[in-house]
Amino acid sequence: MKLRASIVFLCIAAAFVPGCAYAQAEIVGFDRDVYPLLEKRCNGCHHAEEAGGGLDLTRLSTMLRGGDDLGPAIVPGKPDESPLIKVLHNNVADKGGGEYFMPKDGDPLTAHEIALLKNWISQGALDDTPKFADEQIAFFEKEIRPILFEHCFKCHAGEDAESGLQLTSRQGIERVNV
Ligand code: HEC
Ligand code: HEC
Repeated sequence: MKLRASIVFLCIAAAFVPGCAYAQAEIVGFDRDVYPLLEKRCNGCHHAEEAGGGLDLTRLSTMLRGGDDLGPAIVPGKPDESPLIKVLHNNVADKGGGEYFMPKDGDPLTAHEIALLKNWISQGALDDTPKFADEQIAFFEKEIRPILFEHCFKCHAGEDAESGLQLTSRQGIERVNV
């Protein structure tokens, strides 16, 4: 709720300066912007059934709960203190990412992708997941995902997913129809 209020505030503030539309376009949302990136580059190894380091990156709530070693993956408002950023290849050497090189065994994220994640965290980690999605997500997690896990994840999870189809999430499946 606090996050919604801050969006409203940002939009009102932006309405008084030129380039309002641009300012609004710059707001980064979890569901719309961040999730697809994590799905593609991270979630093959960070979902409920296979959570590297105990960290599930498929939902904001589990990201906040965090992993076994580094704790909550994001610190809203503070990208440089957020493990999600610290562990990226590019940051490991001197910025406290410890021995982690994420995505593990994968190419580093691009500068643009890192900027997106940082902006999202700087803005307070906005959760723009649609209003009724909580129930859908709960249903998906409990009833559907275990079936897909058993029969489909082998070929439809993570970066090398067949046809680019990632079945690890509700959003991934919804994209089948797009
Ligand atoms: C190929 C699998 C794989 C991919 C892809 C991957 N990770 Fe990981 N991640 C792991 C494993 C496994 C661990 C546990 C530590 C280890 O064994 O290196 C881990 C640990 C972590 C941790 C530390 C968790 C803790 O607190 O202990 C963070 C944060 C993390 N990963 C973030 C990411 C991010 C962000 C991405 C995408 C940019 C990503 N990972 C992609 C496998 C992966
Ligand atoms: C052994 C690997 C494998 C498994 C397991 C698998 N798939 Fe696939 N899937 C593929 C490959 C390969 C393609 C691409 C096929 C093609 O282009 O002819 C594909 C394509 C698809 C497509 C079409 C995607 C598109 O955009 O064209 C759907 C939908 C799909 N799979 C769903 C599923 C579901 C649901 C399951 C689990 C019940 C599953 N798959 C299990 C390998 C697999």
